[in-house]
Amino acid sequence: MITSFRYHARTAVEFGPGALDRLGLLAWERGLRRVLLVSDHGMIGAGFVVRAVKLLEDAGVTVTPFHDFGENPDTAMVEKGRVIAAPLALDGLIGLGGGSSLDCAKSINFVLTNGGTMKDYWGYDHAAKPLLPMIGVPTTTGTGTEAQSYALISDAETHVKMACGAPGAAFAAVILDPELVVSQPRAVFAQTGYDAISHAVESMVTSKRNTWSEAMAREAWRLLADSYERMLTRPDIETGAAMQMGSYFAGAAIEASMLGATHACANPLTARYGTVHGRAIAVMLPHVVRWNAQPLHAELHPSLAARLREMADAAGLPANLRAVGAREEDISELAAAAAKQWTGRFNPRPFDEAAARELYQCAW
Ligand SMILES: [Fe+2]
Repeated sequence: MITSFRYHARTAVEFGPGALDRLGLLAWERGLRRVLLVSDHGMIGAGFVVRAVKLLEDAGVTVTPFHDFGENPDTAMVEKGRVIAAPLALDGLIGLGGGSSLDCAKSINFVLTNGGTMKDYWGYDHAAKPLLPMIGVPTTTGTGTEAQSYALISDAETHVKMACGAPGAAFAAVILDPELVVSQPRAVFAQTGYDAISHAVESMVTSKRNTWSEAMAREAWRLLADSYERMLTRPDIETGAAMQMGSYFAGAAIEASMLGATHACANPLTARYGTVHGRAIAVMLPHVVRWNAQPLHAELHPSLAARLREMADAAGLPANLRAVGAREEDISELAAAAAKQWTGRFNPRPFDEAAARELYQCAW
């Protein structure tokens, strides 16, 4: 039986090799005349910023670039962007780059249009005024933020990651150009691609899942599982395209069904040891899949946990907590932090502090 659900598509998708060339037209069509181009430093070196600025200017759009933020954007970096944007009378923002660029664009949009700080928007739908329209151009294949109405942003003081969402934080349009993702560094791909895989696997079985998210997760898994190892060894446009669509579908699945215990256990590792998200995920995911023992997972692969470990090994991602520098005496505190993660609530098997401790012990 198909249970009731609600789904609202807010984002137009432009997919295809060379789709970036339509950036100027897309912006113009949406009434964008003055935009902030939020793009991390790596995009300058890759030549993507110069190209994007030219495409926008050729279409009659005035562009102010903003690059002053790091790999894990925080509230202080967002505030810098807001200060630059405030006097510009913008009518839109463009995020070009990895998840950090896209989340930074969304976050600047919140504080620019609604004031206050990102903490005010922690949770969902706390922005009273409309946000400005945005276009997203992802150049990595992982977070899936291009398919979501949430921005993940760290509190500059406490380092707590806040998920801040609102319907207006979804991109009006997203450009998925596989030519932009084939050149991502292997180490970046190894982590972000595995994160995308975890999104498909976790969103597939959450307590909040519905027929729509299940379809997205299933197709995401098919594309990602088929392409991940090939992309590690022989990246090409076709494989990049499959990874890009796979991570988009996985991101769209999360938007509808959220995540589970893997992300709940991974986040405290990042907060405590600075472990990169995809590496923390690789440590936890196979154990959580085994622990959850969901029949739907067997439809993805007859021995999914082993297959996931095999993929992580192919990418050289850590296999246990010791490999990310965790200390055994920290497990109790990590478990307490994991139990507080919002996303753990949607895990199909009830997840609490004792469950988190058990999972960390499995992963030790
Ligand atoms: Fe993730």
